Amino acid sequence: MCDDLIVAHFFKASANGSTKVLTETADAHVFVQNDPLNQLWMFFPGTFQPTELDDWLSRHLSDHPAGKGFTYWSFTAYNKETALKIYKDWSAATFDVLYEMSLPAAASGSSHGSCPHAFNIRLDPTFLKSHDPDHISEAFIKAETTFTIVDEHNGHIAGFVTFLVDDDTKRIYISSIEVFPSYRRRGLAKALMKRALESQKEGYTIWLTVFAENMGAVAMYFGLGFSIHRCLWVVGGANP
Ligand SMILES: CC(C)(COP(=O)(O)OP(=O)(O)OC[C@H]1O[C@@H](n2cnc3c(N)ncnc32)[C@H](O)[C@@H]1OP(=O)(O)O)[C@@H](O)C(=O)NCCC(=O)NCCS
Repeated sequence: MCDDLIVAHFFKASANGSTKVLTETADAHVFVQNDPLNQLWMFFPGTFQPTELDDWLSRHLSDHPAGKGFTYWSFTAYNKETALKIYKDWSAATFDVLYEMSLPAAASGSSHGSCPHAFNIRLDPTFLKSHDPDHISEAFIKAETTFTIVDEHNGHIAGFVTFLVDDDTKRIYISSIEVFPSYRRRGLAKALMKRALESQKEGYTIWLTVFAENMGAVAMYFGLGFSIHRCLWVVGGANP
């Protein structure tokens, strides 16, 4: 499972002046407001039961997100019934499936990738800070590792992968991967993934989440040996 790592990535490492944790209860239910975009993001880990929802909401939110003036809200739960309740009660616009995928340690240890010709992969801790200054904090740069892949012909960055490592539980969470559109379908993401996996110590399990509808990425993860561990359910709405 990687719910705690998702929280560590999304709600803690990324929190900075523009993204802040609004509340976090003892059992790690969290929601975050992003000031410039005025969005509300909520994440409910596996321990949370649908029967707790009404009480939790009345204590922490007290109103529909639209009533609070949020332009977009998103609610992620490991429990489908909890997400369905929100979907009905809050007239949500979207209901998406997010796969939690894992790659066992043995398979990750045996991964040896090569970088496509004329591209070079390098450690690049501050890349995301310049790429996405509103969302990347100093804490993120300390907590997560970033590799970029560079086009040697022109020096342009073609894509990146970020991940965090939990040594206590020997887990790695791939928190983001992107290859910019003009560079896609050339094996760059696969090379970035393999580079991230190679850099790990033996015995670590790799985790990530991906929307089921993102079929290209899902195909890539299956190709690398990942399998689906659980589903998360993401309910969202917009209030233009
Ligand atoms: C998903 C993404 C990272 C793939 O990058 P990429 O460099 O084009 O991927 P690769 O060329 O390394 O492809 C590796 C494998 O992924 C699969 N794949 C990637 N894109 C695909 C697509 N559009 N359709 C079908 N399969 C696809 C294929 O199995 C491919 O292997 P193959 O080329 O041997 O068939 C890229 O499309 C992207 O940045 N998307 C937006 C961000 C995103 O969705 N990130 C993932 C979030 S979990």
